[in-house]
Amino acid sequence: MSTSVSRQSNSFPGFFVSVVHTRPSQLLPTAMAFPLRESLECVAGITAIQWTTLALGAVSLYASVRCFYHLYLHPASRFPGPKLAAISNVWYAYYWVTGKYPMAIAKALNKYGDVVRIGPNELVFISPKAASDIYASHTKHMEHFPKAKFVDLGGGDKGLTWETDPAKHRDVAKRIAPAFSVKSIRSKEPTMHKYIDLFVWKMREVGGQQGGIELRTWTDWVAMDISAELAYGHEMHQVERAKTAPFLDSLWGVNFFVAIHQILHRFPLLSPLQYAFVPPAAIVSELRARSLNRAKLEQRIAQRGATKHADHFDQLSPASAPDPMPREKKHLEVVAAQLLIAGYEPISSQFLCTLMFSLQEPKLHQQLVDEIRSAFARYEDITPDALAGLPLLHAALLETLRLTFIGGGGLPRVSPGATVDGHHIPRGVGVQYAHWAFTRSPRYFHEPRCFRPQRWLPADHPAWDPAFASDATEHFFPFSQGPRSCPGMGLRGARRGCLLPRCSGRLTSSPCPAKSRSFLRTRFACTACGANRSSGFGCFRGRNRDLTNEAPSRPSLSCRWKDLGGR
Ligand code: HEM
Repeated sequence: MSTSVSRQSNSFPGFFVSVVHTRPSQLLPTAMAFPLRESLECVAGITAIQWTTLALGAVSLYASVRCFYHLYLHPASRFPGPKLAAISNVWYAYYWVTGKYPMAIAKALNKYGDVVRIGPNELVFISPKAASDIYASHTKHMEHFPKAKFVDLGGGDKGLTWETDPAKHRDVAKRIAPAFSVKSIRSKEPTMHKYIDLFVWKMREVGGQQGGIELRTWTDWVAMDISAELAYGHEMHQVERAKTAPFLDSLWGVNFFVAIHQILHRFPLLSPLQYAFVPPAAIVSELRARSLNRAKLEQRIAQRGATKHADHFDQLSPASAPDPMPREKKHLEVVAAQLLIAGYEPISSQFLCTLMFSLQEPKLHQQLVDEIRSAFARYEDITPDALAGLPLLHAALLETLRLTFIGGGGLPRVSPGATVDGHHIPRGVGVQYAHWAFTRSPRYFHEPRCFRPQRWLPADHPAWDPAFASDATEHFFPFSQGPRSCPGMGLRGARRGCLLPRCSGRLTSSPCPAKSRSFLRTRFACTACGANRSSGFGCFRGRNRDLTNEAPSRPSLSCRWKDLGGR
């Protein structure tokens, strides 16, 4: 009898009734509850030391299995490389944060060959064929090797530069493309000249004074003033007021944060820590810059169809388009900021570095000045079209691009499961090109670490030197290749090309004190153009003779304006 009762109480309806009146902890049938209680008592009896031993054991077991997998079973395991890089992202983190990433890659390539594993899931290549396989392969302008998640500060919207979905990227790129047509660039020239003239006028005013000027700051100001106004009619007045705008301040302020953000996205458990690396002052300045920017954007949206001059925003949100909804506004805000940054930093660096490199070579500098001054009777004649006939200037600008190449961070992509330079790279494995190592390799360039514009001259130019005849100049793509290459190629020619000749020989740093020639190696926030402007964060002083030896850098250069009279 008792047996049947107990059987009944364990039957479904009986159990259901008892469940209704029971606390959740009592839900388990009695037969199961005993072992669980015993186990809990047993767990409660474990001492702290035993817990620690258990935890360490579990971690060691996990780490060993992980190492074994990465070393022997991972799809990238057949490629050689530093062992630490194969098993962990610590290799990357160390070289990234210390600013030695491109140099470490160059060393690894020297040691292990043309394909090296530089991360548990990442390979780097150096042959030009690999570069075209990775960046130039596409179908109907949709890249085959999508951009890797590298920087994403858009708060949900990746705009153009950070977009990793090839189809979405193609849509945004298509929308913005007309802003960079020849006709559109021409219509933007007056805006550009307005700032260049103001810059030259200011140089006359303050550059001739005792102590001169710090050129890096001034080139940042002029390049950003132009870029902001061309992007979405944002007037920053930095050159006019000789004062840094909050936007530029905040950009440099969050620099270190961006470097940490890039590292910690490879260590997801630690990624909440990234916010500890933003200095409070930078947060304030960032918030201020963002709200200012938003206000300017609202202003620009309201002005659609009634602006003083053409800008890129005309293509992003034409006058005929309906008023953007909040989500679209957020997207416009991200793309506009990306265009501003992408169009500012490379121009500032190119102008500054071309001047600095050529000043280190007085004979060459004089040849450049002579070329410019003999070509133009009047200052006003210096226009982008007229500059096309100046081979030495063109060569000097190209040589600066080679030495300060934007892709120091590798322009990482993800393999779709395709062949790169004859190697099948499984789907999902990260790939990148060793741009820095390529430009510094004696295999590809004669005297690779020196500023030698001669290598870019045509063979019939009097300054051409046959020693550079076999340089791999045809494999150098400073604006990258394929669907993600720089849309601003035409604009950059107009901006940096005109800035230098309009100063033609008047900006000088002689006598150039050692301090003014030191390189300030800084990680560039937001990686203009989606590229990593330089190799890492930190400061370092180069020796005078070694100016071109190190990573792409932003030199600090004190200059004086020399009045040459006449034009
Ligand atoms: C000397 C000047 C410049 C150089 C060397 C340069 C170089 C580059 C490179 C190498 C990329 C490819 C990045 C990647 O693959 O991830 C790029 C992308 C880009 N550049 Fe430039 N750039 C310059 C000037 C400009 C200018 C003046 C603009 C004008 C706004 C601009 C706008 C962009 C944009 C929007 C992208 C992103 C393209 C995309 O992701 O589809 N750049 N640039």
